[in-house]
Amino acid sequence: MEKLNKFSKKINRIYHFLFKERFSKKLNLEFNDVKRWDLINYLHSNYKFNSYLEIGCDDNQLFSKINIPEKIGVDPVSGGNYKGTSDDFFLQNIKKFDLIFIDGLHEYDQVKKDIINSLKFLNDNGFILLHDCLPRSLSAQAVPRYRNVWNGDVWKAIVEFRTNPNLEIFTCLADEGISIIQVKKNSQVLKLKKNVLDLKFKDYYFNYKQFMRVIDFSTFKEKFKKI
Ligand SMILES: C[S@@+](CC[C@H](N)C(=O)[O-])C[C@H]1O[C@@H](n2cnc3c(N)ncnc32)[C@H](O)[C@@H]1O
Repeated sequence: MEKLNKFSKKINRIYHFLFKERFSKKLNLEFNDVKRWDLINYLHSNYKFNSYLEIGCDDNQLFSKINIPEKIGVDPVSGGNYKGTSDDFFLQNIKKFDLIFIDGLHEYDQVKKDIINSLKFLNDNGFILLHDCLPRSLSAQAVPRYRNVWNGDVWKAIVEFRTNPNLEIFTCLADEGISIIQVKKNSQVLKLKKNVLDLKFKDYYFNYKQFMRVIDFSTFKEKFKKI
């Protein structure tokens, strides 16, 4: 994970305090020790994927656990098997994937780009999963970042795509929040009263269950069992 030095963290904290939002409530989210690889293993056991793409690999904590025959891991700094940013990768890529895990730069603009590019390279009936979709506090999702443990504002990109009638999206209460995107009719289109960029953490705090379409791990297993 990228390291921020103390000075830039301090500047970011002051910037956020002065120009962004102030809201001190925190969500009490229970992830029950369900990890990202538990979701991936469950899906793989049912759908038998042949190809996997991971954006953002860090020290391969997840990438090394993936048992899908063809796997590509993209990271400009460490891990995986393609050294470069997700933008670099998608510019030269011609392969399609059954499962794509997005966990690179956790900022709305980049996550949105990563989702749009992933949709172009997703096989029929494929899955896109995203990490860090359920921040608990204002500071955990603040951009620019000013803490080490950080989810970023991935949630805003998810909220935006939840308004798309052709994408079915859920977010599982697991491992900092894992969103699951499938290309199919959205059975519960989100109607937003504001532009997504005007949404504040406070809006997410009071509406996250509906915004993100939150489900627990048992519901996830029920929804994604092979029929
Ligand atoms: C949270 S870590 C990934 C953790 C890993 N997926 C896992 O589950 O263990 C985020 C990684 O994203 C990488 N990253 C940052 N910006 C990126 C970008 N534009 N494209 C791809 N990876 C990026 C960082 O170098 C960092 O290693």
